Amino acid sequence: MGAAGLMLLDARTAFGYEANSAVRLGLLGCGNRGTAVATSFAENTTARVVAVADLFGNQLAAGKKHFDELNAKLGQSPIDEKAVFKGPHAFDELAASQGVDLIQISTPPFFHVQHLERAVASGKHVYVEKPVGIDVRQAKQALEIAKRVNPNQSVDVGFQCRSAPPIAELAKRISAGALGKLASIEGWYFAPASIEHPGSAGAPKDEYRLRNWLWDRALSGDILVEQNIHIIDLCNWMLGAKPVKATASGGRNVLTHFGDCWDNYQVVFTYPGDVRLSFSSTQFGVYGFFDAGLRMFGADGTAACPYAGPMLIKGAQPWEWTESAGTEVSSGQFAANGAFEDNLKYADREKERTFIDSITSGQSHNQIAAGVETALSCMLGRMAGLRRREVTWEELLAHGESYELGFEIEEFD
Ligand SMILES: NC(=O)c1ccc[n+]([C@@H]2O[C@H](COP(=O)([O-])OP(=O)(O)OC[C@H]3O[C@@H](n4cnc5c(N)ncnc54)[C@H](O)[C@@H]3O)[C@@H](O)[C@H]2O)c1
Repeated sequence: MGAAGLMLLDARTAFGYEANSAVRLGLLGCGNRGTAVATSFAENTTARVVAVADLFGNQLAAGKKHFDELNAKLGQSPIDEKAVFKGPHAFDELAASQGVDLIQISTPPFFHVQHLERAVASGKHVYVEKPVGIDVRQAKQALEIAKRVNPNQSVDVGFQCRSAPPIAELAKRISAGALGKLASIEGWYFAPASIEHPGSAGAPKDEYRLRNWLWDRALSGDILVEQNIHIIDLCNWMLGAKPVKATASGGRNVLTHFGDCWDNYQVVFTYPGDVRLSFSSTQFGVYGFFDAGLRMFGADGTAACPYAGPMLIKGAQPWEWTESAGTEVSSGQFAANGAFEDNLKYADREKERTFIDSITSGQSHNQIAAGVETALSCMLGRMAGLRRREVTWEELLAHGESYELGFEIEEFD
């Protein structure tokens, strides 16, 4: 049998499990979000967490303890000590591990593409957090990796908002033309500050940067690429398009702590048909204020798509998500691990179920290219902001922008 024949093997045969048996998950990056997503996989799907990997010993130990307790609660075995991988090559060891079917990549954004490359090469299924790349060079590399995903491998990107039932329903209606010809869109993401990683004060410079990667543009991509990306993704998805150009401004007006991420952005993205998204974001303060969403204005109606509050269409084809109608609008509580209440309440559960179904049914996903398109859209806004002028999609790609880590990760061996 040739290589093509081998690739057509059924995923269940290739990975040794039946449709309803456990998918063995290995978590790379035992932080806030990684732990929350792997927990959701374990609680809501047939996946079992069987391996953990992390650069830092304390994070790894906390992850191991958490999943041993969770596994005990779910009537499953603790994680084998041989499936606990520490250090800068932990991702390599996890990828080589025989007892793992699915690698969940929840490391800081700078490492996603490097880790994705190794995970895809291992032949295992992959769940990689957004963003797929922090610069154009990584984005292009990810597109090459996408071509190497074999037909039995399923690769998802962590855009769980698309899976939130009210958002999925609204998107369906908008894609079917419920708003008529679109005129303009408003988008926003107003979030509280990311706080200093507990216990990191006084750590050597490179370690301090790594632990507080959210404050660092090279490690995170900045707030537009790291956090605001969820809203840009929803907009691209609902429009079925990517922006052709952007103008932007923004800066670091309030934050004074270590790092170089901006604390506010104002971006105007132009989509095909001269439809513009006016997007605004902030990330600072600890006042308990959080609000994110989209409003779309078309010839036949207007749609509201907030994280918290009524999800609706007013116009020729009126619609409202009944579970949000009449209920008290919450304050839009911010969740650093992405586990929101309100309209996003079931986003993770649905996302994880759909992904595991894609594995057990053999109906594989390959979401890398779509993930890259959204990441590049955010990079377009970031580049326009940094250059303080209009940047087109073609210019972004031609520029080949790249960020460097500035130190060797091996120093943490
Ligand atoms: N989808 C969402 O809603 C959502 C929400 C929050 C975060 N995220 C994403 O999830 C990812 C993780 O975010 P987080 O909040 O959990 O961060 P975190 O800092 O809490 O966790 C990151 C973990 O990765 C480890 N790590 C760092 N560099 C590593 C390396 N080179 N190799 C192995 N391990 C390494 C750290 O020690 C840490 O345990 C990020 O990409 C972030 O953008 C997504």
